Amino acid sequence: MKIHFNFVNSAKKEINEHCLKQSIFNKNKNSSHITAGLESIKEFKKLVGLGNIKELVEEIIAFVKIQKKRELEGLATEPMVFHMIFKGNPGTGKTTVARLMGKLFKELGILEKGDVNEVERADLVGEYVGHTAQKTREQVRKSLGGVLFIDEAYSLARGGVKDFGKEAIDVLVKAMEDYRNDFVLILAGYKVEMELFLNSNPGLRSRFPIQLEFSDYTVEELLKIAKMMLEERQYCLTAEAEIKLKNAIRNAVSIGHCYEGNARLARNIIEKSIRAQALRLIHENNFSREQLIYLKACDIEDLTSKINNNNDNNVIKIFEAKKSAASGGN
Ligand SMILES: Nc1ncnc2c1ncn2[C@@H]1O[C@H](COP(=O)(O)OP(=O)(O)OP(=O)(O)O)[C@@H](O)[C@H]1O
Ligand SMILES: [Mg+2]
Repeated sequence: MKIHFNFVNSAKKEINEHCLKQSIFNKNKNSSHITAGLESIKEFKKLVGLGNIKELVEEIIAFVKIQKKRELEGLATEPMVFHMIFKGNPGTGKTTVARLMGKLFKELGILEKGDVNEVERADLVGEYVGHTAQKTREQVRKSLGGVLFIDEAYSLARGGVKDFGKEAIDVLVKAMEDYRNDFVLILAGYKVEMELFLNSNPGLRSRFPIQLEFSDYTVEELLKIAKMMLEERQYCLTAEAEIKLKNAIRNAVSIGHCYEGNARLARNIIEKSIRAQALRLIHENNFSREQLIYLKACDIEDLTSKINNNNDNNVIKIFEAKKSAASGGN
């Protein structure tokens, strides 16, 4: 009799949880209670755009909560593997999101520390046989309890079979199994290169259950990002300055140089504009509160001068080539 009672009760609970899970994943229903109270969520919400990533975060939170509840009821649980691939152009938010993922996993109790160990090829690949395995294992060890974030991860596969990068991949693949609950591995890089990388080793793709694309930002999104950065720094734009900023961003995006869709463009423009305003105020000898807050149109950086002043020859070359192509090669 007791057994029967328990069975009915647990069946009821399972059905309730199933319904709860369904409603969580239904975007039209209110799911904000799932994410309430988590600091990382507040920061995720502040990010401009990135709709697919925000959706994934909500799914992860729901999944983790439900798995924990199932575990308490003695029900079978899915393995929690969160290794991820981030694919996107420069400045599309990959590093920012990786850091927030670390924080989220800590808050959810999945990772002990949630620190993000950011590394690149040179931190993993050594110069002689055995050196790479030692260096990579050391980075894995440092990342236990947190996230190991490998930027431009495709470069590990670039040198072919004789390159030590392959040794680093082998160590990482083994570590993903050995320490599957102790760290999260995030590999990031440009979309095409990451696809080639995943194809370079037959076991790789299936080991990353989460693959996220970071789209280039639109002009509107870049303007929002710029305004958000200004607000954080307690600056405002005059109406004319806002128009000039939007035009500068639109120019960059339409010309299509390497800053296209890149949030670093927004940061660079506003930081340069803040310095221009400071210089103007010193010359004007005018330090009223209002003057200290507002950026005028004359403070907003002109993108062309930025490109010309940039020391990075590649930036200039790409810009010139695109400009030439856009004007029919004249
Ligand atoms: N969605 C966003 N909302 C607000 N700020 C953003 C957003 N995405 C990126 N940023 C800001 O833009 C800058 C560049 O972002 P980030 O370093 O995360 O890009 P990335 O994809 O890692 O670039 P890279 O490939 O060059 O390493 C950072 O200052 C970040 O705070
Ligand atoms: Mg980055």
